[in-house]
Amino acid sequence: MSAVDVVVMAAGKGTRMKSRVPKVLHRLAGRGLLEHVLDCAAGLQPRRVVVVTGHGAQQVEAAARAAAQVVGIGQCDAVLQEPQLGTGHAVQQATPLLEDDGICLVLNGDVPLIKPDTLRELVQACGGERLALLTVELPDPAGYGRIVRQGNAVQAIVEHKDATEAQRAIGEVYTGFMAAPTRLLRGWLGRLTNDNAQREYYLTDVVRHAVEDGQAVAAVRASDALQVEGVNSPHQLAQLERALQRRIAQRLMDDGVRLADPDRIDVRGTLACEGDVEIDVGCVFEGGVSLGEGVRIGAHCVIANARIAAGALIQPFTHIQGERAGVEIGPGAEIGPFARLRPGARLGEAVHIGNFVEVKNSTMARGAKANHLAYLGDAVVGERVNYGAGSITANYDGANKHRTVIEDDVHVGSNCVLVAPVTLGRGGTVGGGSTITKDTPEGALSVARGKQVSIAGWKRPQKQAKPQ
Ligand code: UD1
Ligand code: MG
Repeated sequence: MSAVDVVVMAAGKGTRMKSRVPKVLHRLAGRGLLEHVLDCAAGLQPRRVVVVTGHGAQQVEAAARAAAQVVGIGQCDAVLQEPQLGTGHAVQQATPLLEDDGICLVLNGDVPLIKPDTLRELVQACGGERLALLTVELPDPAGYGRIVRQGNAVQAIVEHKDATEAQRAIGEVYTGFMAAPTRLLRGWLGRLTNDNAQREYYLTDVVRHAVEDGQAVAAVRASDALQVEGVNSPHQLAQLERALQRRIAQRLMDDGVRLADPDRIDVRGTLACEGDVEIDVGCVFEGGVSLGEGVRIGAHCVIANARIAAGALIQPFTHIQGERAGVEIGPGAEIGPFARLRPGARLGEAVHIGNFVEVKNSTMARGAKANHLAYLGDAVVGERVNYGAGSITANYDGANKHRTVIEDDVHVGSNCVLVAPVTLGRGGTVGGGSTITKDTPEGALSVARGKQVSIAGWKRPQKQAKPQ
C-alpha cells in the first residue's frame, strides 16, 4: 500500500464560535480540537502531515507542531492559505509539499472524534488508485454536501446551497473526509473553478472531475454520526464534550471502575485505574492520573497529574494539582476533605492530610499527619510526625526558598511558625504558638514564645460612677 500523507484543513475562522481563539484550538476534554485530529492521524503512521492555516495562522502552526510531538508525528508542516477561497483552494496550498506516489488523506481540523479505524477503511478503499469519500446518512442533512449517485455509482457531491429540491432530499452526505491518489488529485484540483453559489473553490468538485475521467469513486459509510460531527459553535463543542465524556466513562466502567454517575465525571487527559476504584460525582481529572487498587475518590475533587496508590481515600472537595513535578500519594493515605496538594507533594504510606491543609514540594514519610489548617512547603517530614493545627513553614524569606526538616516522631503543637532553614530533631516536641528560628535538639521540648505569667488577686479596672 502507498504511503499516507495527511492534509488537515484548519484555516477557517469559525465565526459562530464568537471567540478570539482560532476554532481548531478550542478545547475538548482538555486538548485542542486539532490535537485530537492529529492524534487520530498518528494512528495511521502517516509519512507526513500538512496543516493548512489561515485565521490565527501563527498560533495554529505552533499548536500543530507541539501536538505533533505529543502524538508522535515525525514530520508536520504548515502552509498558509491567504485568503481562504474554499476547501479546494485549501488543499491546493498543501499539494506542492506532497509526493505523487502517496495517498492524500484530507482531514478537518474541527472534526475531533474521528476514529483511526474509520480512516484506515477510507485509505483502504482508496487503495492508491481511486478517490474514496467518507459519507454518512443523516436524518437532517441540511447544510451538507449531498452524495449524488446514479444507480450505485457516485456521480458528484452537490453542496446544499447549489442543490435542487430533489438533491436536498438525499440523506447521504459528505463528511469532509476523503482519500485520493496524490497524482490524480493534483490534476483534479487544477481543474476546479469557483462557478457556484458561494464563489468558492470546492474540494467536493474533484468528484465530478474523477467521474469525467472515467474513474470509479468509492464511498465508505461512517458507522456513527458522532465521529464525523464538526464543531462550529459553543453549543456543538459542549455537545461533543458530553459525548466524549460518556465514551470515556463507559470505557472506565467496562474496566470495572465504579462511577457514582457516568454523566458526572470529566476526564481531561488520561485516567488509569486498577481494580475496585470508586469515584463519586463531580470529579475532574486532568493530565495523567493513576489510581491504585481500591482507591476511593469523594465527590467534587479536582485531581491533576497525580499517582495515588492502593487503598488511599481522597475525601470530598480535595484539590490535587501536580503540574510538572507531580503529586504522589502513598498506600492507605487519607486526604481531605478540603485538602490542597501542590506540585512536588510526596506523601508516604498512611499519611493523613486534613481539611484546609496545603502541602507543596514536600515529602511526608509513613504515618505522618497534618490534620487541620496548616501549610507545609519545601519540607521533609519524618515518620509518625504530628503537625499541629494552624502551623506553617515560613519557607520564603522574600528572595529565596528554604527547607524545613522535621525528623521522625516530632510533635509540632498548634499555631507554630517554623522559620526555614531549620531542623527539628528526632522525637522532639514544639510547644504550641512557638516561632522556631533555630534547630531543636532530639527529644527536647522547645518553646519559643512569651512565658505565661499569672498575677494573683489581680483587680480589673472599675468604671467610675458618673456624678448625678
Ligand atoms: C464542507 C463540504 C461539504 C461537507 C461538509 C462536512 C466543501 C465545499 N463542502 O462544507 O460537502 O458536507 O464540509 O462538514 O468542501 N477551510 C479552509 N479553507 C477554506 C475553507 C474552509 O481551511 O478556504 C476549512 C475549514 O476551516 C473547515 C473545513 O475546511 O475546517 C471545512 O470548511 P467549511 O467551511 O466548514 O465547509 P462546509 O461548508 O461545512
Ligand atoms: Mg463545516
